[in-house]
Amino acid sequence: MGPYPEVSVRSQLRRLAIRSLLPLSWKLSPGRVSSSLLRFAEVEADSAWQFLRAMEVLEQPHQRAAMFHDAIEEMEHSAGFYTLARTYASRPLPLCRDRREALLTGPEGLGEFLTYIYEGEREVYEEFEDYTTAAGRQDIQDWLTHIREDEEGHQDTALATLIEVLGGEQELARLVRSIRWRRNKESLARLSHRIGNLFSGVLLGSIFLVAGPLFGWACKQRMDSARGDRERRYGPPTLDAAAS
Ligand SMILES: [Fe+2]
Ligand SMILES: [Fe+2]
Repeated sequence: MGPYPEVSVRSQLRRLAIRSLLPLSWKLSPGRVSSSLLRFAEVEADSAWQFLRAMEVLEQPHQRAAMFHDAIEEMEHSAGFYTLARTYASRPLPLCRDRREALLTGPEGLGEFLTYIYEGEREVYEEFEDYTTAAGRQDIQDWLTHIREDEEGHQDTALATLIEVLGGEQELARLVRSIRWRRNKESLARLSHRIGNLFSGVLLGSIFLVAGPLFGWACKQRMDSARGDRERRYGPPTLDAAAS
């Protein structure tokens, strides 16, 4: 546990959503089990990539070694989730779907990056407990319980490195608040994107439901009318005409 154990409202809402909605969602649509596990695999692989990038900026060998250790563990987590995703998949899975976006772009952003990682690891550590409770499948629960210990270590690595990089804890509270605010905005943007997709899906579905039969009916009327005109001019179709 780091120095900021106070409750983050967004965190608590996410945890509540996982505990209450995940069991229902996985029960109603078994395909979501595999897609959720695949998403976890992608997030873990992305963390490993971000850690490896950060190694290039960290100055102290022991900091780079700790970051490399955590990157290896994230790769192991990703591989474990991917294996689980395959066991629940009804079709072959893609290797990676998302384009990566670097969280750290230069040495000047190291403090923010480490705070972002610290907050992310803290959330993952807490949420994996909720996923373990909600998953309802022994193999997934065992895996989550196993890797949760690693996530606690990643949290500690990020915090210890951050304090060293900052040269103390004076700036810590301000950075944590700023990163929490940034993560809130990112969550809100993701949520609006999902609601937008849902809304446009419902709208398009409604248009097809209403307009489909209407256009079908109009099309049939036109075809019947054209057939009537043709028969009035040339008479009813014969077998010879149909064959020619
Ligand atoms: Fe992980
Ligand atoms: Fe982690």
